[in-house]
Amino acid sequence: MNRAAAAEHTAVVPLSLAEAPALIERLLPVQKLSAEVYKERMAGSGQTLTALGSYWKGRKPLILAKACVLGSLLAATDDPKRDLEIFELLMGMDDLSFAARAKRRPKPKEILAALSLARLRDYFKVTPDDALTASAPVDWSNPAFAKAKVAWRADLPERERRRMEEQLMPRLPYRERVQASRRPEEVPEVHDHVWDEVNAHLGTSARSFPELVEQLGIMRFGHRPRVADTFCGSGQIPFEAARLGCDVYASDLNPVACMLTWGAFHIVSASPERRERLARDQQALVETVQAEIDRLGVETDGKGWRAKVFLYCVEARCPQTGWMVPLLPTRVVSKGYRVIAELVPDAKRKRYDVAIRTDVSAADLEAAAAGTVRSDGRGQAPYLIHTVDGREYRTKISTLRGDYRKPDGTNGNKLRLWEQHDFKPREDDLFQERLYCVQWMRPKESGRTFEYEFRAVTAEDLERERIVEAYVAKHLAEWQAKGWVPDMRIEPGDKTDEPIRTRGWTHWHHLFNPRQLLVNGLLNGWCRNGRARIGVVKSFDVNSRLSHWHRSHGGGGSVQKVFYNQALNTFFDYGSRGLWYLASYGLQDIPKPSRISTLCVVETKVADQCSHDADLFVTDPPYGDAVKYEEILEFFIAWMRKNPPPEFADWVWDSRRTLAIKGEAEDFRRGMVAAYKRMTECMADNGLQVLMFTHQSGSIWADMANIVWAAGLQVTAAWYVVTETDSALRAGSYVKGTVLLVCRKRKGEMKTTRDDLAWEIQEEVEAQVEALTGLNQEARGLYRDENVFEDADLQMSGYAAALRALTRYARIDGRDMTAEAIRPRVKGETTFVDVLIAFAVSTANQCLVPQGIERSLWNKLSGAERFYMKMLDLEARGARTLDNYQNFAKAFKVRDFYALMGDRKANHARLKTAAEFGRAEMGEGSELHGSLLRAALYALMELEADVDTGQVLAHLTHNVPDYYGDLTQRERVIAIADFLAGRLESLRPDEASAARVLAEAVRNQRVG
Ligand SMILES: C[S@@+](CC[C@H](N)C(=O)[O-])C[C@H]1O[C@@H](n2cnc3c(N)ncnc32)[C@H](O)[C@@H]1O
Repeated sequence: MNRAAAAEHTAVVPLSLAEAPALIERLLPVQKLSAEVYKERMAGSGQTLTALGSYWKGRKPLILAKACVLGSLLAATDDPKRDLEIFELLMGMDDLSFAARAKRRPKPKEILAALSLARLRDYFKVTPDDALTASAPVDWSNPAFAKAKVAWRADLPERERRRMEEQLMPRLPYRERVQASRRPEEVPEVHDHVWDEVNAHLGTSARSFPELVEQLGIMRFGHRPRVADTFCGSGQIPFEAARLGCDVYASDLNPVACMLTWGAFHIVSASPERRERLARDQQALVETVQAEIDRLGVETDGKGWRAKVFLYCVEARCPQTGWMVPLLPTRVVSKGYRVIAELVPDAKRKRYDVAIRTDVSAADLEAAAAGTVRSDGRGQAPYLIHTVDGREYRTKISTLRGDYRKPDGTNGNKLRLWEQHDFKPREDDLFQERLYCVQWMRPKESGRTFEYEFRAVTAEDLERERIVEAYVAKHLAEWQAKGWVPDMRIEPGDKTDEPIRTRGWTHWHHLFNPRQLLVNGLLNGWCRNGRARIGVVKSFDVNSRLSHWHRSHGGGGSVQKVFYNQALNTFFDYGSRGLWYLASYGLQDIPKPSRISTLCVVETKVADQCSHDADLFVTDPPYGDAVKYEEILEFFIAWMRKNPPPEFADWVWDSRRTLAIKGEAEDFRRGMVAAYKRMTECMADNGLQVLMFTHQSGSIWADMANIVWAAGLQVTAAWYVVTETDSALRAGSYVKGTVLLVCRKRKGEMKTTRDDLAWEIQEEVEAQVEALTGLNQEARGLYRDENVFEDADLQMSGYAAALRALTRYARIDGRDMTAEAIRPRVKGETTFVDVLIAFAVSTANQCLVPQGIERSLWNKLSGAERFYMKMLDLEARGARTLDNYQNFAKAFKVRDFYALMGDRKANHARLKTAAEFGRAEMGEGSELHGSLLRAALYALMELEADVDTGQVLAHLTHNVPDYYGDLTQRERVIAIADFLAGRLESLRPDEASAARVLAEAVRNQRVG
């Protein structure tokens, strides 16, 4: 259908979907979404918005935000399978999208070699025309075709081309397909083929996301949808919403968050002309600063070399020898260039000269690995270690610092606390600072690349240091007054204590040495343009006393980011970048433009002061103190506070720590309730909220129920998406994924009792699990036998159903749930919300029938039988963690599941085999006593031990209650044996074969 024709068929009637349930309230392809999220996460610095500031931790993936916004706008119809298909088309998850997402699309000749086509010229242009047969496949080894050139016909619709390419793609599981492909957002034309199908299903006439989103907005809300995020952080959610075509309101307490969000709107989505202008502005700024640095002559050696990196270390006096010793955790300067530092004793002055040796042998490099600060041999505490006249002296760093215990039990030390006008150590400070090496660079003759040299520090270098220091001394007060460099105190805190405690640094500018203050200060002071300024402050991340020198990175070594983690760690040695090297870390790698043409507002605002109306709120609130944004980002706020560019001048340049929502206790709940209450007031009556939070432990659910309740919301669905990458998991992170809680406004003041609620929860859970399992079955073809939902998703639906039932009511058993929600908790108390949620999860687990088992059989089995069969099912799919066994044991009410376990290791747990059971667990005390499963396992044990089949059957008839009286018992034994055979195939082939023999023997047994 062409565009005009589509417009005629359009059913975009304002408010026609006003009351329709949203797709995300019914379904979400969470498994596929998790694979896409993983792909985006693994792109690291290749993620779209990361280039604006990788110092922002905890970005929510864009693809997740896209799923939330789209899922909230699309309606759920009575054809869930088609709804799912359309959603996947829009997410770039369908087969034809994968043809476009391929990293390399197949060439016409490859297509012709593989596919059968009656008339290949319907698709390809052949030159010369007679050089090829009429049909394909083509045997290209035939010399007659050597001259043929083939190309796609220009008039061939893209969809047709993709259809053919898709046939050549390997049939891989979804996760592997995603890994082998590009992300949808990297392929601008990925959705070109979807619009006819989408419009036919939705009654729209769109040819792009902004058109679709506008039309859906009109159908649901009467206008283009307005999406708000009041905890916008780095802007991932609002950026994606805007890119899709929504009007967006973004706010955050933290001005750095607002700056990054603003940058997403105004840099990443800027037109090519705008980007060019930005590049020119940045270049001009760097040139101006360079001119000043060159005028001072502090980064050049006067012989054609320019300094790339200055390497500094702390120096301290050894209390045992009176020697000044450079504190170097290693003497290796550069692994790649094989450069080491040698400490040359100067006995007269009781200090060391630092000589630099290049191109040393492997043995020398190894010998240099251990420096003067080591933690070897005596536990973890670091020591200053050096040798004078053949004798080694060791002094604990804590002794050097003069650590002591204060009367209040906290630790203190003898480091002097620096004052506001300090920018370098005073002569009598315990920790001095010393330049010990410079990496120089100059263009090679070819002019394109550089040669590098690491050199020891000379008298001229020291003179240049003095010029820098004099310059900073002269300008510091003035620059601080103007806001060019920070004058802000470091408020103590969880993360901000470290620089104070380990160095005595009390103000943010103390985290920068004189050179860094000079270069950063000039860049910061002379940059009046918001876009360029984002790049300028970003570069401070790699030019601070906290920027570690990485000796084996990037060839010769590299100066690292302060925010390589979420702390403010101090180092004994660090690198300081020359301007040229610093400027290379600006806004160079901004990815392709993403056009945004909607209204985007950004403000610094406390979430409970939100004053913008919106149809959808998609938020990722601070949960569980994962990142201390309000502390660590003061590192940047300090540079912007007094001197923001005009674009950010109206924002509050303060982290307002006390207003940040944090912790997990009462304050946290109160803060969250106030924020969500305000959002609910600002939300359209038929609006939706998607609230994201990381899933850490079961107790969260009760917290969330309480928050949502008190905010006047009602949960309508919950989904679990795996958002952590493998590396985060390996690092011991227990945060595994993100829960999406979908909520609507609660209407009315409904009341219920706890007993009724339990029934309601049971019904909700069963209906929900059934609906999702049904979709699993229906989508078999579409999903190539993978599941739309796995067990964990179905379990999640248990939580969701519980919350849905609970949060529908304002009063339960006469109790006002809103007041209950903010009631202070007694430690260890189990609230009745906790009990109901546990009940719901257990109900959900009971509904999880393994595939291949009839529900009628399942209903007849005991808890222990269900447990064994469910866990075998999971083992066959590779799940082996003990806590899984624990959870299901609880759900199936198995008292002593250990009796059924062959191995109880945390990550290698497994059930007992038939042989391991032997004759155990047959007696009355066992939870398997008298069960069909136990009888079957007993038979397998005997068959594996080569007992005669006749005898095995005789024992079976004895072990199965009422074997001859109730003929359905036999049928059940057969079904169980078949199930065991199937699941054991990959785990224990011998036992599987015994199960097959048993099934056959019972089938063929003559009864009566
Ligand atoms: C988990 S982060 C959001 C991350 C974001 N979704 C992203 O992808 O970058 C939570 C945000 O809430 C902000 N915040 C904390 N307390 C707040 C409050 N009371 N009002 C507004 N924002 C607050 C923090 O500054 C932080 O940016």
